[in-house]
Amino acid sequence: MLKAVGLRTDHLDNPLGLDSKQPRLGWKLISDRSNVMQAAYQVQASHAEDFAELVWDSGRVESDQSQGVRYEGPEPRSLERIYWRVKVWSNQGEESEYSAPAFFETGLLSSSDWQARWIEPEREVDIDAYKPAPYLRKEFIVRKGLVSARACFTAHGLYRFYLNGVEGTDQQFTPGFTSYHHRLQVQVYDVTALLREGTNALGVILGDGWWRGNTGGANLRNNFGYRLAFLGQLVLRYVDGSTEVIGSDDSFRTSTGPLLKSDMKAGEVYDARLDLNGWHQPGYDDSSWSPAVVKDYGYRNLIGTRSVPVRQKERFTPRVLITPNGETVLDFGQNLAGWVEMKVSGEAGTEVVLIHGEALDRHGNFTLQNLAEHGELKDFQEVHYILSGNGMECYRPHFAIFGFRYVLVKNHPGEVRPENFTAVAIYSDLEETGDFTCSNPLINQLVSNTRWSQKSNFMDIPTDCPTRERAGWTGDAQLFARTATNFMHVYPFFEKWMADLAAEQYDDGCVGSTVPTTFNYHNLEEWERVMRTNADPMMAMRRPRPGTPSFLDGSVGWGDAAVIIPWTLYLCYGDKQILERQYESAKAWVDYMAACAKTPNEQYKDTPAYHTYTDGELDADYIWDTKFHYGEWNEADANTKDIMSAMMTSQHTLPYVATAYYAYSSRLLSEMADVLGKQEDAVKYLGLFEKIKRVYNKYFIQEDGSILGDRQAPNVRVLAFGLADEARKQAVADRLAQLVVEKDYHLNTGFLSTPFILPVLAEHGYTDIAFRLLEQETCPSWLYAVSKGATTIWENWNGITPEGDPFASLNHYSYGAVCDFLFSDVAGIRPVWENPGYKHFVLKPLLGGTLTQASATFESPYGTIRSSWEKRDQGVAYHFEIPANTTATIMLPGQPEDLTQIAERHPDVRYEDGRIVLEVGSGVYHFELS
Ligand code: BGC
Repeated sequence: MLKAVGLRTDHLDNPLGLDSKQPRLGWKLISDRSNVMQAAYQVQASHAEDFAELVWDSGRVESDQSQGVRYEGPEPRSLERIYWRVKVWSNQGEESEYSAPAFFETGLLSSSDWQARWIEPEREVDIDAYKPAPYLRKEFIVRKGLVSARACFTAHGLYRFYLNGVEGTDQQFTPGFTSYHHRLQVQVYDVTALLREGTNALGVILGDGWWRGNTGGANLRNNFGYRLAFLGQLVLRYVDGSTEVIGSDDSFRTSTGPLLKSDMKAGEVYDARLDLNGWHQPGYDDSSWSPAVVKDYGYRNLIGTRSVPVRQKERFTPRVLITPNGETVLDFGQNLAGWVEMKVSGEAGTEVVLIHGEALDRHGNFTLQNLAEHGELKDFQEVHYILSGNGMECYRPHFAIFGFRYVLVKNHPGEVRPENFTAVAIYSDLEETGDFTCSNPLINQLVSNTRWSQKSNFMDIPTDCPTRERAGWTGDAQLFARTATNFMHVYPFFEKWMADLAAEQYDDGCVGSTVPTTFNYHNLEEWERVMRTNADPMMAMRRPRPGTPSFLDGSVGWGDAAVIIPWTLYLCYGDKQILERQYESAKAWVDYMAACAKTPNEQYKDTPAYHTYTDGELDADYIWDTKFHYGEWNEADANTKDIMSAMMTSQHTLPYVATAYYAYSSRLLSEMADVLGKQEDAVKYLGLFEKIKRVYNKYFIQEDGSILGDRQAPNVRVLAFGLADEARKQAVADRLAQLVVEKDYHLNTGFLSTPFILPVLAEHGYTDIAFRLLEQETCPSWLYAVSKGATTIWENWNGITPEGDPFASLNHYSYGAVCDFLFSDVAGIRPVWENPGYKHFVLKPLLGGTLTQASATFESPYGTIRSSWEKRDQGVAYHFEIPANTTATIMLPGQPEDLTQIAERHPDVRYEDGRIVLEVGSGVYHFELS
């Protein structure tokens, strides 16, 4: 049996509205045999599902490529659906049937396809106030013989739409968050089933969203503009071949309604007494509504939707608590990002308030205090629902999303019953790909917490937290990217966001710390207005003219996302397109670092590096000692106040951190250049890496392996980035091990090096210490949070103090990056750069600590990989599964004596560096070693 399954186009399941001309096709092979490789494939494409007439036939192609295969049929036209299917042959002479068909459909590919005009509903806007959400409606006739209808929609702000009273999609927070002035996504929906012959009605509601609502830690308003707008085109196709277009224009009518406030962070106010019953149905009397105003915003920045939609996912019923202070609080048992669906009945005019928070304080009372770091918290994560009084009423937000586990319920009429409240988790609907379990239940909870922090923060862009800031912090995303690939198929999610990173990259190559930036306004007019009224001199530094970097941008560890994320995506998915698209951006970042390094810093002018030349070049030119950097960020013993004051005085230049990243990104860039066949660059940036490394060893690494400041993080970084000279490597590792022991087996890393500490310890002979750190339960450690009942990853090691006070965000995925150690080391599933995307991979399990058993499943682009081990009385049992069309190198700890037993079935087995090593093809493998 041989089958091709799991067909995807551009990493998406049957996408609509694509704007790629040559999308990439991918499929998986399944087979009941072992050692199966694809020998050849044949792709056929057609306009019809029966494939009676083909638009493209690849013919039989001798190749084992089953991912990233280019569609080479005729360039698709706008709104064209192409069905495709694939047949494969294996290396064992088997031939599959044609797969079940998949399809992709294009969107409106050129500006001239747009007949719709941008329309604005609002006449006057008070730019400092929350505003009622505009409603728009339009009636239109559908003739007899409709065969298909597509809705191509986007907005300034967020939109929801209804056809004949029915919500048109389950996608949330459309059009998503991008750098709108450069790239605004259009969604395309198949709405055929929602239309009927005769009169139909389209209704649209607009919300403030990222366009003009509160964004970022500083709650910038009007970030992209002041006014909401809608652009929508319905394309109707009839059986006689004719097409009709209903486009937004001044025949659309507009009014406001019950939704009086719609802010993603602050929340919503909905007065059900103002319900516009039937407004989205045909026949509604809209004579009191006004015509929308046509605007000429053009179509230049419109792009197809590049990632998966955000959807409503898991649902939770609460426990109802009466807290010591007498308040009614719902506990959903899981911290998450989403909203609450509420059913309520009572007297007209009653205002029920729901306030969403992450924690109870030390007394067990509801609190938002942990999220109040950026000043007093009012007007935050609140829903105000004013009852119409018409029996049982249901409400859930339209355009708001909150980070919460607890909800404070105020002014509820009658008894608060759990069955009337449901928390719904909402996030980018990416395929879940990975699971890890082991014999330590606390580690299993850590895995769950990390997965939930990923879910909570993968809301169209990767955010730091779903509460206080909700910003696309580049550092957080960079350090978590690899772990993210274990849990979900994140390629399309990051491909989209990386394009925004590049679009917002400054002319000198500097990369923003948040993407799309929430430090700075995209809206020039608003920036000028704020600057006119703001007397704080820091403001001008923090928020310079739109299009120029803030002093908080361009920090190492953050800006390096430009290099690290594309590199990681290529490694884990094997899709070269990410390198092709991001290469110039990555290179511009490295060149920016080079320019910064060459800029002298007065503060260091007397240090030897400024007076020493090697091969005619000044050593100081390879040390980045200028500009502000966040540094390790959130180390256990770091005082946040110190960091803040260093930020304010811009003294935080941290050369030993900055220079390390300068080296690392240069090396990764060189590897990327090599893949793309840019040999000159490959050589140049590898050379650069070598020079920086030389200087780094000379000035930063001491003989005894300690590094400036003598803390855990710098040693971790140096080992992880391959910066230490061979002769000093072990000393650096030994010093790191000592530093951990000095802390009594506690962590003292922050955001940047936490992902690497366990792998580097394990790699340098300290597996025992790595596992002690992993299983440590007192603060600071990963399992401390678990022991305190955390259900997500905290921003700080002491997210709940021993006294029981919550501190800072409780839903920041960063420290959860340790989970890659579980997949890549404990289960030992590792992709390899030379044959990426798990086409070939390594299985190198690591035993240690109290663990008696560990098991990981990972859905790779080629199929399911399994790796598990279990300690038995007589030794260890290993179990592996390797998908068809891949190969793996298995590396097991064992004794040379074990070889004989294995050699019976695997004659090529060898013994290398204390391990049993064998090369295998697809299939199921079982080993028991003493
Ligand atoms: C955010 C981060 C971010 C950091 C910058 C914080 O306020 O929540 O996660 O990376 O600032 O250092």
